[in-house]
Amino acid sequence: MSFYIAGTGSALPQKVVTNDDLATFLDTSDEWIRTRTGIRSRHVLTDERLDDLAIASAKTAMGEAGASGAELDLILCATMRADTFTPSLACTVAEAVGATAPAFDLNAACVGVLYAMEIADSFISSGKAKTVLIVSAEAMSKLLDWTDRASCVLFGDGAGAMVVRAGEGRLAGVLSTKPDSHVIRMPNIEGLNSPYNEIAQEKLAMHMDGGEVYKFAVNAMGRNIEEACARAGLTPADIDWYLPHQANLRIIDASLKKFKIDKSKVLTNIAECGNMSATSVMVLLDQFAKKGTFKRGDKLLFVAFGGGLTSGAVIITWNKD
Ligand code: UT7
Repeated sequence: MSFYIAGTGSALPQKVVTNDDLATFLDTSDEWIRTRTGIRSRHVLTDERLDDLAIASAKTAMGEAGASGAELDLILCATMRADTFTPSLACTVAEAVGATAPAFDLNAACVGVLYAMEIADSFISSGKAKTVLIVSAEAMSKLLDWTDRASCVLFGDGAGAMVVRAGEGRLAGVLSTKPDSHVIRMPNIEGLNSPYNEIAQEKLAMHMDGGEVYKFAVNAMGRNIEEACARAGLTPADIDWYLPHQANLRIIDASLKKFKIDKSKVLTNIAECGNMSATSVMVLLDQFAKKGTFKRGDKLLFVAFGGGLTSGAVIITWNKD
């Protein structure tokens, strides 16, 4: 027994920031950002709370699944930066939806939703849970160095959610880590206020070696697709829809090229959303589900890479009309 996806939701901040908007204070251009990444604009938090977007997307997913708060057996939130260290975002969502199930946040950077799906699968297949709420919300705009044109143009903010229930749906999953503490690094504020802290503080913003991430990403995405398909007894050609992490259109194209997949099977929203870290695949899923793209029985493959360095892929059968 594994799980199927019973409902999805997403919520994006109101404010849209275009590449031209960024060019008003950065030495960059719409042309550079579009041709190097595929990004045209992104949503950025202004006066909204990330919590509220997470709760809105959770309620939409629960409404679609017909799941009450009392019915949830587990709540997982994939995030690198909740509004509060404690309560966790998962507990904040639990309070808002009237749940008392175990609830915790997990950080696997951009692969967080895939890690959450695999944890949900373990709880469900071991009989510990029947209904799990997975939420992801990222406020990337609050983690960036807005003077670093090589990284701040890439990201956006947003939230998404899915309810998964015990049943047939998940076909295979693969997760891995290639530990590296330099290629993508985002220090937190640990020890900042302690009088005993003698370790020099790092600048509190993302540092990234874009070229190294690019090489890792192309290799990891391809390898995870192959491994997940092998575990499911499928070939990449058997997959109906690819939902890749939305980091860079060139990374998506380069990692899928060897599989000779029809490009119309590869879903993207990077042009309008940029890279929302873990939340990217969740929002992508909800947007295309709401458009009616998926038919019952379709095979969907999620694939992602991120800081850590983490990577993974999950294949599911779409089980909704
Ligand atoms: O979720 C994971 C997060 N991270 C990623 O996915 C990042 C993966 N890496 C990438 O997407 C690409 O490496 C980037 C988009 C970050 C960079 O693209 P690139 O084609 O590898 O460019 P580059 O780093 O080789 O830079 C080329 C030039 C440099 O100028 P010089 O040294 O040739 O004079 C950069 O300074 O482009 C310059 N540059 C920019 N120019 C205008 C870097 N950022 C910008 C910018 N606007 N925003």
